[in-house]
Amino acid sequence: MSESFENQKYAPIGVFDSGVGGLTVAREIMRQLPQERIIYFGDTARVPYGSKSRETIVRYSRQIIHFLESKGVKAIVVACNTASAFALENIRPEMKMPIIGVVKPGAKVAAEITQNGRIGVIGTEGTVGSHIYTEMIHRHNPGATVLGKACPLFVPLVEEGWLKDPVTVQVAKRYLAYFQESDIDTLILGCTHYPLLRAMIREIMGESVNLVNPAYETAQGLKRLLEQHGISNDGKAPGEPMYQFYVSDAAEKFKNFANSILPCEIEEAQLIHIEE
Ligand code: DGL
Repeated sequence: MSESFENQKYAPIGVFDSGVGGLTVAREIMRQLPQERIIYFGDTARVPYGSKSRETIVRYSRQIIHFLESKGVKAIVVACNTASAFALENIRPEMKMPIIGVVKPGAKVAAEITQNGRIGVIGTEGTVGSHIYTEMIHRHNPGATVLGKACPLFVPLVEEGWLKDPVTVQVAKRYLAYFQESDIDTLILGCTHYPLLRAMIREIMGESVNLVNPAYETAQGLKRLLEQHGISNDGKAPGEPMYQFYVSDAAEKFKNFANSILPCEIEEAQLIHIEE
């Protein structure tokens, strides 16, 4: 193995999202790949992505990927369903390093675990409107019926930290009523913010519906990808920080949120001007 390839093993993974949602993916990578370093970027100045156009999301994603590349990452995780839906396939051909999104891994597991072939997807307007989950699920299970429901109020409620608030329960009941007569046995949490509402969604949907959090499968997929490229960190990283966080706005708010959900304490989130 060449020296530069060998060094790559110790390089961090770049992870990005429109804000705090991707922390649910970073958290899963921390759990499953504890020896890997992470550089996380949350685009807190431009959140939400879910209501923006494909062109805008592709442009934002390119800017962020360039930033992460400049930090020397060895692979990129698009920890945002909307960016995975709109930008990943556009950007992949331009990339030299491995890149993985959250949609494909989540769709694959849902397609495999459904018993009755009826799958629900909740996500942003962008993700649900793109029908990407339907397309990906049909690659693995062509006969499956996929029902999508956009839940745009979930993102601001999560960002506000109202994870158990009665207002959030009301909103969730209203959105999820869409699936009442649908007989789905599997529901994909197709937005990286939604796993933070998992307990509430579980209560409303009942025990008989499988809830799929694509973050788990994404971390598994990342592990395989790093192994295929021979760039898994073997745990001997020279004294670099394990985790670094960058945001485009509201660094203190981001830091507090991150500390409420991550398994580690973060000392700071650094503010950068991503447009420059
Ligand atoms: N975290 C983003 C996703 O998974 C949604 C938040 C947003 O709308 O920016 O789609």
